[in-house]
Amino acid sequence: MNKLSIVGAGIVGEAAAQIIARDELCRELVLMDVQGEMAKGKALDVWQAAVESGSDTRVHGGGHAELLQGSELVVITAGVPRKPGQSRQDVLATNLPILDGIMADIKHHAPAATVLVVSNPVDVLTYRAWSLSGQGRNKVFGQAGVLDTARMKCFIAEQTGFSARDITALVLGGHGDSMVPLMRYCQIGSVPLSHFLSGEQIEQIVERTRKGGGEILGLKKLGSACDAPGVAIAQMVDAIANGRNRILPAVAILQGEYGRKDIAMGVPCVLAEEGLARVIELPLDTQEQAMFDQSADQVARDIAEMKAL
Ligand code: 2OP
Repeated sequence: MNKLSIVGAGIVGEAAAQIIARDELCRELVLMDVQGEMAKGKALDVWQAAVESGSDTRVHGGGHAELLQGSELVVITAGVPRKPGQSRQDVLATNLPILDGIMADIKHHAPAATVLVVSNPVDVLTYRAWSLSGQGRNKVFGQAGVLDTARMKCFIAEQTGFSARDITALVLGGHGDSMVPLMRYCQIGSVPLSHFLSGEQIEQIVERTRKGGGEILGLKKLGSACDAPGVAIAQMVDAIANGRNRILPAVAILQGEYGRKDIAMGVPCVLAEEGLARVIELPLDTQEQAMFDQSADQVARDIAEMKAL
């Protein structure tokens, strides 16, 4: 990939930039923020760190939207994080106009760019970004499930004592308390999770995963998670930049899959050179479909709230 831009040089944008630059996932990396000088400073720091790691990715930053010119991929991390006790939807009123402004900048300076939305509430803002973009769903999608899945893997590793390397997990639904961890699809070394853990233990893992972002926020108090979200963004960028055809969960616009239309939800997707190449529709049992529907209903209400603003 030639050029990638990250809009929002907060802790998540910076964490993602560090990995993207270190791993040379693009030739040119822009870190853009309304606080232009701060973004410039962080970009210099990230560039110098990358050079220390032997990377030739050129990193620069600033506050002008012209910096986006020619970007093939734009990652949006801008916006306020929630405070302890707030839900992701509570930051909608503040983050919506920020996203709208960024989408206008992208349409003007990099209209063909693929857009990866990370800012919260991510399901609602991904839907908004897609609506404003005029692009197909393959070009506009969001990050949530890679992070939620990583959290679940941690908790499974902790509970079982097995290597996290052998754990596969899958999370669907909205990024929030209604997310739908699909425990039937979780395995350790190809063995179903239920072989090692009781229903009660699995339920505890599910609950902790749902509240994983809030747990970190409650402890850090002044800021949300940043390191794991940064790695999650870099994984998705790597899948696109290197055309890997990876199956990863992403926030995608549904077009009838899982019985839903005109909504953005976390589902397993194929990430490839063209972006989100396709949505994978898994057969859900009655209970899983009910959880998915409940999550979708919540996201639909959140989208309706956004449209009313
Ligand atoms: C999280 O789950 C901030 O939504 C982000 O940590």
